[in-house]
Amino acid sequence: MTYDPDAVVRFFDAFGFGEYERHDQSAEARMKYELHLRCLRDFVSPGTSVLEIGAGPGRFTETLAEMGCRISVVDLSAEQLRLNRERAEEKGYASSIDLWLEADICDLGALGARRYEAVVAFGGPFSYVLDRRADALRECRRLMTADGRLLLSVMSRWGSIHAFLHGVYDLPQGEIEAVLRSGDVTPATSPSSVEGGHFFHMFTSDELREFLESDGLSVRHMAASNAVSTKWSDLLTEERHFRTVLALEQEATRSAGALDMGTHIIAVAQADT
Ligand SMILES: C[S@@+](CC[C@H](N)C(=O)[O-])C[C@H]1O[C@@H](n2cnc3c(N)ncnc32)[C@H](O)[C@@H]1O
Repeated sequence: MTYDPDAVVRFFDAFGFGEYERHDQSAEARMKYELHLRCLRDFVSPGTSVLEIGAGPGRFTETLAEMGCRISVVDLSAEQLRLNRERAEEKGYASSIDLWLEADICDLGALGARRYEAVVAFGGPFSYVLDRRADALRECRRLMTADGRLLLSVMSRWGSIHAFLHGVYDLPQGEIEAVLRSGDVTPATSPSSVEGGHFFHMFTSDELREFLESDGLSVRHMAASNAVSTKWSDLLTEERHFRTVLALEQEATRSAGALDMGTHIIAVAQADT
C-alpha cells in the first residue's frame, strides 16, 4: 500500500485531545515525554526559528515557546491544528507562533523560501508517510538553514513488537513475517490492522541512520524511547524511582544494542559540512 493521507487525517481528527493527554497516561508515557523534551533542550538553541511538523495539540510547541523560539506549526489534521491553536491561546504563548499551517510533510511548498534553524517532527510523521518518506526528508532539508538540525522520532520495529507483543504473538505467521520484513503496518502486510485504520512504517535504528545519511545528513544523536522502562509503568509510581530509571534510559542510549528496544527511535541529524 502507498501512503494514504486521508487515513492519517481520519485517525488524528478522531483522536483529538487524546493526543495531548497520552503523554501523562502512564510512567512509561511520561518517560517518552521526558526523553523527547531532553532532546529538544539539548539540540534546539533557545530563541531560534523552529518548524514543528506533526505538532498535534502542542505538548512540544509549548516547550519551544518557553525556550523563546519562533515557531511555525504544521499538521495534516485540521482538528489537531485547531487544538494546537486553542491550547496556545489558552496558555498564553500564541504570540510565539508565526503561523499554523494545515499541510503534509511531503509537500511544504506553502512555506516558500522560509528557513529554520530546527525542524522538529516528533511522534511519527516520517512513519505515517510510508513510501513517501524520501519526499518528506527532502522537504524538511529544503527548509533547514545550512547548519540547521532535524529532530525526529519514528516508530521502532523491534521495540513495538516488544511493547505490543500481546497483539502480535497470535497473528498468522505470514502476517508477522510480512510486517517484520517490510516494517510496514498496512492493509497489504497486516489485514488485522485494517479495523484500527492506523498505518505506519516501523524503522530499525540501522535503517533510520541509512535513510538520514542517504540525503547527506549526519546523525548527531540517536536514542530509544524507551529502552529500559517499557512495560514497567507499575513499578515507577514514586518520583525518585522514575528519576533513577530516566537516568538509566539516558545511559542506555549510548549502547547500540538498546536503540531498537523502545516503541520509538529519536534522532537528530544535521547537514554534513
Ligand atoms: C503521534 S502525533 C504526535 C504529536 C506531537 N508531535 C507529539 O509528539 O506529541 C502525530 C501528529 O503528526 C501528524 N501527522 C501525521 N502525518 C503527517 C503528515 N504527513 N504531515 C504532517 N503532519 C502529520 C498527525 O496529524 C498528528 O498530529
